[in-house]
Amino acid sequence: MKPKIFLTRKLPPKVMERLNRLFDLEMNTEDRVLTKNEIIEGIKGKDGLLCLLTDAIDGEIMDGSPDLKVISNYAVGYNNIDINAATKRGIPVTNTPGVLTETSADLAFALIMATGRRLIEADKYIRAGEWQGWGPLQFLGVDIYGSTLGIIGFGRIGKAVAKRAQGFTMKVIYWNRTRLSKEEEKQLGVVYRPFEEVVAQSDFLSIHVAYTDDTHHLIGRQEFELMKESAILINTARGAVIDEKSLVKALHTGKIAGAGLDVFENEPKIEPELMKLNSVVLLPHIASATTATRTKMGMMAVDNLLAVLEGKKAPNLVNPEILL
Ligand code: GLV
Ligand code: GLV
Repeated sequence: MKPKIFLTRKLPPKVMERLNRLFDLEMNTEDRVLTKNEIIEGIKGKDGLLCLLTDAIDGEIMDGSPDLKVISNYAVGYNNIDINAATKRGIPVTNTPGVLTETSADLAFALIMATGRRLIEADKYIRAGEWQGWGPLQFLGVDIYGSTLGIIGFGRIGKAVAKRAQGFTMKVIYWNRTRLSKEEEKQLGVVYRPFEEVVAQSDFLSIHVAYTDDTHHLIGRQEFELMKESAILINTARGAVIDEKSLVKALHTGKIAGAGLDVFENEPKIEPELMKLNSVVLLPHIASATTATRTKMGMMAVDNLLAVLEGKKAPNLVNPEILL
């Protein structure tokens, strides 16, 4: 008998093929986010749940299946899952770290380029049929090379962004809860600064912390006061790390110059004012969105399911407390 798994939304073909081969799979066949009740209905009698960052998984959902043995999240971030509730019930929760690091760093860098050099605005201008030829004052942006990149949160993805910045001869300063060793700082060519200094000194400020109670609105009114008026804020982490209403105000009042955002506080809702600003580039949470990476994430999510269902420790367990 194959283990019974509920999947909340279709994943890439190779992942689907493996899921169908290994498990007795039930899934949402529509291309949309399920409601809470639909998930509760779906996991009835299941051994495992394979869910996405758009699924808010709480204790009530977990109680939908007394047999639930594992929750495998198809994402590195797991703020969508009530980890305490899972731990209390002895349910291992897993994520997909590492495989999306480089892909996500690529996108953070794409946002640096797109905002600094006004790529989206310029593209729209051509498509609107407005271009009359080269102009000395058209679409003047800011230099990426030689500028100061501040990185808030220096985990895998933050470091991968720093590596890209070296190729552009950017000066990289970072803040992280724990500072790196001197050797590692030297190897990456980065300089540690206190949080406020990174915020105040950056031309591009890129956010790479996980979303937790501690990082809720980490960037808000006070930080916008500190930032350079020419600064551009980049967020590919989680929307609520930034106070989105304060961001809108900061952009309107010229406290900062622009923003490149892949994530939002209330996805898929976006502060309407952000839509009106040319100085902002908006992306629909696509940092990990390449075929190769989304496939790797799926394989990892399956590996995690398999390990737990075979009675082993999951390779990417986020609540090891359950083993104590
Ligand atoms: C994407 O946002 C992830 O956490 O994987
Ligand atoms: C993600 O993989 C991170 O730790 O930054």
